[in-house]
Amino acid sequence: MSTQTDSKQLTRQVTTRLVVEMKQRGEKIAMLTGYDFTTARLLDSAGVDIVLVGDSASNVFAGNDTTLPITLDEMIYHTRAVVRGVKSATGRAMIVADMPFMSYQLSSEDALKNAGRLMKETGCHAVKLEGGRAVIGSVKRIVDAGIPVMGHLGLTPQSIYKFGSYKVRAKEQREAEELRSDAGLLEEAGAFSIVLEKIPKALAEEVSRAISIPTIGIGAGAGCDGQVLVVNDMLGLNNEFSPRFVRRYANLEQTISDAVKTYVADVRSGMFPNASESY
Ligand code: KIV
Repeated sequence: MSTQTDSKQLTRQVTTRLVVEMKQRGEKIAMLTGYDFTTARLLDSAGVDIVLVGDSASNVFAGNDTTLPITLDEMIYHTRAVVRGVKSATGRAMIVADMPFMSYQLSSEDALKNAGRLMKETGCHAVKLEGGRAVIGSVKRIVDAGIPVMGHLGLTPQSIYKFGSYKVRAKEQREAEELRSDAGLLEEAGAFSIVLEKIPKALAEEVSRAISIPTIGIGAGAGCDGQVLVVNDMLGLNNEFSPRFVRRYANLEQTISDAVKTYVADVRSGMFPNASESY
């Protein structure tokens, strides 16, 4: 009986309601970033609950130093590809798209218009935006229009020039207090979940207990209701970037490099293509 229930849960489409129920049942939520069709297809097939089309695409896909340059049109392009990838697999994963820098900070009207474009032009299921009290008006406006919002507190990369570094946030009491209050405000404003990035694990655990919506941690310890990593990092596609919170589940940098070297050698030596690879 319980096996039947478990398998039903695994095939049920992930919705805002399901992730809240998962928190209530104490089931951890597995989220990964994805930026393209092929990866999204693999993530959904492998059972990831949420695919985040992160604005980290600006760094890991486009090679920028920060997340700031990526545009709304570029996020729409990536999100469309991810939606097609998930649909071509089981279609179970929820797809959340990041609102890029300056697409929601100017006014709540602007935020709603841009969140609407992301939803309407891509087919994603929710948007994510960074910040607490400063963006609460926008969060309310977007949620009131029927668009689910995921919050993001702690190290918020769009504010990197304000912070001045990628160090752990909210270690000091004042900032920790602000984060506790921001999490409550986001919940009240109707956010369905909150990413907690690079904050002390005790604080993340306390916030996760204090609110009824799920927290998804990155560098925030095991007390969060779910975890997220940048897919390129966990697959070992860029081994030069190795913060403490990244666990590498593969070494694709090595695998790809070996494969490409072998291909180059085969082409140069005339070993590729062979007779059975030709018409
Ligand atoms: O853009 C991103 O990849 C993110 C995650 C790190 C949470 O916001």
